Amino acid sequence: MIDIHSHILPGIDDGALSMSETIEMIEIARATGTTALVASPHADTQYSYEPERIEELLAEARAQAGPGIALVRGCDFHLMLSNIEAALKNPSRYTIGGKCYVLMELSDMLIFPNTGAIWTELEAAGMRIILTHPERNPLLRQRLELIEEWVAQGRYMQVTAQSLLGVFGPKAYEFAVRLLDRGLVHFLASDGHNVRHRPPRLDQGFEWVARKYSPRLAQLLCVEHPRAVLAGEPLDLSEFPPTREKRGLMERILRRGQ
Ligand SMILES: [Fe+2]
Repeated sequence: MIDIHSHILPGIDDGALSMSETIEMIEIARATGTTALVASPHADTQYSYEPERIEELLAEARAQAGPGIALVRGCDFHLMLSNIEAALKNPSRYTIGGKCYVLMELSDMLIFPNTGAIWTELEAAGMRIILTHPERNPLLRQRLELIEEWVAQGRYMQVTAQSLLGVFGPKAYEFAVRLLDRGLVHFLASDGHNVRHRPPRLDQGFEWVARKYSPRLAQLLCVEHPRAVLAGEPLDLSEFPPTREKRGLMERILRRGQ
C-alpha cells in the first residue's frame, strides 16, 4: 500500500516529537504493509513549511529506517493566501514528490465561497487537488452537494483510514460511508501523527473497505490511485467506482430457493 498523507517528521509540526518516534512510525507503516509513505507536514498559520529542512529530515529518516519503504516529500497545504501565492509561483514546492498532486486542507471554521475558483488557478499552474478528510470537517459534512460538484470538476477526495474505524466519532464515520456509497472517495490515507493514537497504518482501513465494499475498491484507494500520485500521472477512473459485491444478495436469493 501507499500512504499519501502523514506527519512522521519530527519538530516541524504536530506530528512525531523526535527522530526516534519518526523511525518507530516508519516501522509501524512497514510492518502493516505500506511500501511508500508520504511525509506531509502542515503548511498553515501555525507551522511554516520549509522544503529544504523537510528534505534534510527525510534523508536522515531514510538512512536510519533502512530499506523496504520509500519516503516521499509532500505537504498538508492549508488553503490560505500566503500559501496560494507561493504555490502559484512554485507548485512543486508543495506537491507530492514534486509532481502534480497536492493535499489540500480546508478550515473547519469557514469555507471560502471562491474555493473552487482558487483551485482552478492552482490547477492552471499544473496542480491537481486532493481534498483531505472532508468527513472530519463539520462544515463539509453539511455540504455534500459541494463535494459532489468538486469531484465532478476533477478534484479528488481523501478519507482518513481511522475515520472508518470510528476513531473520529460517529459523524465522521457516517459521512465517510455516505461519500463511499456515492463513489466520492479516491484515496484512503493514515494522516498518521504519532505512534500511539494516530499511527501511520492503512491495513485496517484497507480491510474495512474490502469487507464492506469490495477488495477492488480497497486496492484502488490504497494502492493504485496513490501509485498514480507518486508517478504524477492521471488517475485511471475507467472502472471507478467498482460495483459493490453482491455476494450477500446472491446468498439470500439462493437460500430462498432452498
Ligand atoms: Fe494531515
